[in-house]
Order: sequence, then structure tokens, then C-alpha cells
Amino acid sequence: MQEGFSPLVTPQPVDTKLTQAAVFLVLTLNEDVSVNPQVLDLMGDLSSLVRGVGFRIPDGRLSCITGIGSHAWDRLFGQPRPKELHPFQEINGVHHAPSTPGDLLFHIRATRMDLCFELAAAIVSRLEGAGVVIDEVHGFKYFDSRDLLGFVDGTENPDGQAAQVATLIGDEDPAFAGGSYVIVQKYLHNLKKWDGIPTEVQEHIIGRKKVSDIELQESAKPSYAHNVLTNIEENGQQLQIVRDNMPFGEVGKGEFGTYFIGYSCSPARTEQMLQNMFVGKPAGNYDRLLDVSTAVTGALFFIPTSDFLDDAPDMAAGTSAPATPVPADTQPTTAPHDGSLGIGSLK
Ligand code: HEM
Repeated sequence: MQEGFSPLVTPQPVDTKLTQAAVFLVLTLNEDVSVNPQVLDLMGDLSSLVRGVGFRIPDGRLSCITGIGSHAWDRLFGQPRPKELHPFQEINGVHHAPSTPGDLLFHIRATRMDLCFELAAAIVSRLEGAGVVIDEVHGFKYFDSRDLLGFVDGTENPDGQAAQVATLIGDEDPAFAGGSYVIVQKYLHNLKKWDGIPTEVQEHIIGRKKVSDIELQESAKPSYAHNVLTNIEENGQQLQIVRDNMPFGEVGKGEFGTYFIGYSCSPARTEQMLQNMFVGKPAGNYDRLLDVSTAVTGALFFIPTSDFLDDAPDMAAGTSAPATPVPADTQPTTAPHDGSLGIGSLK
């Protein structure tokens, strides 16, 4: 349980410290709703599965985040539904961000791939007949947290309380307080093209030094630098997200990629960053990273609290209400825009 949270509001561990290994599983569910109880039963058993696989290797830090897509929410839980849950909106800008199917997301992280693999296999076997894995990515840590383009990725991630403020829903949607949203996109890199770009130009595209990871001075950054376009503000305050991108690939196929995953208290933040990257800010001033990186998937999921998942087997569409209603005096009163979570020690 995270510091400062009521036991009635236990978020999933979205801001887990970056790990050496991850498995990203995206599934679609069988259209026959008679499989719903099988899916809800798995959700109720997830915390026990994570304990079962992870307990033997305590320093493995095994964790699993479960996300639910917009259509899947309707068929599994019905009303009420999280206010900002919707399918990922494709973007047709200078570059294209496709929207691809996804009913469930499992983001499995650990310091070792064997733990991730074992848990992924257990989850998928529980869903046999109920759904199919339509995308599976095994991500690895690459040297000092670099992406396959050679830049350190993750440096400016918020952590601690700032990460909670960035990711957890508060009193703007009280029925789902403690939940989050996540957007995932799988990117494939054209490394030959990237390697042909002089390092200094690459540094302008990212906005940081390649070897040292030092941020370029504002005056040295072009307006299209990745860290300019993804730096968004509201009323003078930066709106942050928590990322845990992972490199992946298959050398024999010439496949080199980055799996982007961004958690936030509102999907609008990540969507704004994507608009800036793909359409440009102003339009046409787009992210040059996209000249060498192609988004081949795009999906959006709601991340309920752990309590919600534990109680999922008792909830079916049409009869559902958040299973552990949060008493008014323990409700997170997150005002994400004022930087305060307003609960417990996070006030
Ligand atoms: C090909 C895919 C991508 C790659 C290789 C990539 C790589 C990077 C790198 C190297 C950095 C600088 C270090 C850091 O602070 O982490 C960075 C920063 C960042 N990226 Fe990405 N990124 C990708 C896609 C995205 C997407 C799709 C978004 C959001 C929609 C995003 C949001 C951010 C943010 C918010 C920062 C921090 C900016 C700052 O405040 O300095 N990135 N990314």
C-alpha cells in the first residue's frame, strides 16, 4: 500500500521503479459475453497470482498492472464508467498514430524476465477460450536505461509524490479515485536512417546530449525537440505523466523498437503530447523522432484500483458499482492541477 492512502483506496503500483525486464500483453476478448465471469475471476485472483509467482524471489520486484479498454469496460462492468475512458483516437498529422484493438492490458515488470514470463503464462492460461493475445512484447533494459536509438530514456519521469499526483485520479471522478489511465504505443525504428544522422542533430531532435544525458540549454533546443513538444503546461504548471518505455526487438528480422507506455490521471495529457508530436506545435512543427520511428499500435486503458480488481468477480455489467465505495472522509481529493493529493500524508 502506498504511503498516505486509505486501505480502501489502494492504487495499482503504476509508479513502480523502472525494472530490467517487462512483458506487455494486449488481449481482445471473445465476443461471447458468457466468458465474462472467467475474465472477472482472473481479475479477482491477480494479486494472489503475483504473490504466488513473485514471493520466492523477493528482490525480483514482480508487479502487474491491469488495464481495461473502453469496450471491455462496458461489457464487463457497465455503469458507472470512468469519466475519461474512451478508445484511443488515431492521429493523422504529419505522421500517423494508428488506433488498434485492445480489451485488456497486462504490464508485467520485474528485475528478471523469468518472473515476467511465468506470470504472463499464468495469466494467459487463465484466459484460454475467453480472449486472445493480439500483441506481446518482451522488453529489456538496454545498458544505462537507453532506448535503441542510444539515448537515456526516462530521466525526467516524476517520482514519489509527484508521480502519484501525475497518475492518480482524485475528486474529479470520485467513484474511480485512485485509478489511472494509460496509453500504449509500439514504435519501430529505422536504425539505418537514424545512424546516418549526425549525433549533434540527433541531440537536437531529443533535446539532450547523447552520451552524458545532460539536457540541452533552452536556447539550444529547437522548437521541435522531443522534450519541448512533450513538455505541456496548464496555468503555468507542468502536466506530467509517468513513462516506463522499454526497448525490444528481433535482430534476425531487423526489428528494433520502443514500447511506449504512459500513465496519467487524465488521458488528455498524453493525447496533448501526441498531438504536439504527430501534428506539431504549431501544426507542421512536428517531432523529428517520428521520421525514424513508426507507431504501429495505439490503445488506451483504464487502470482501476487494486481493490476494484479484487472485487471484480462480484461485479457484472448492469449490477456494478465500485465494489469498495470510498467513505467521504477517506476519498482522495486529488486536485492534480494544484499539485496536492489532499489525502493522508500527501495533503
Ligand atoms: C519512439 C518513441 C519514443 C522514444 C524513443 C522516446 C524517447 C525519449 C527520450 C530519450 C527522452 C529524454 C529523456 C527523458 O526524460 O526520459 C524522452 C522524454 C520524454 N518523452 Fe519520449 N520517447 C518516445 C515517445 C514518447 C511519447 C509517445 C510520449 C508522449 C505521448 C513521450 C513523452 C515524453 C516526455 C513527457 C518526456 C520528458 C520531457 C521533459 O519534460 O523533459 N515520449 N523521450
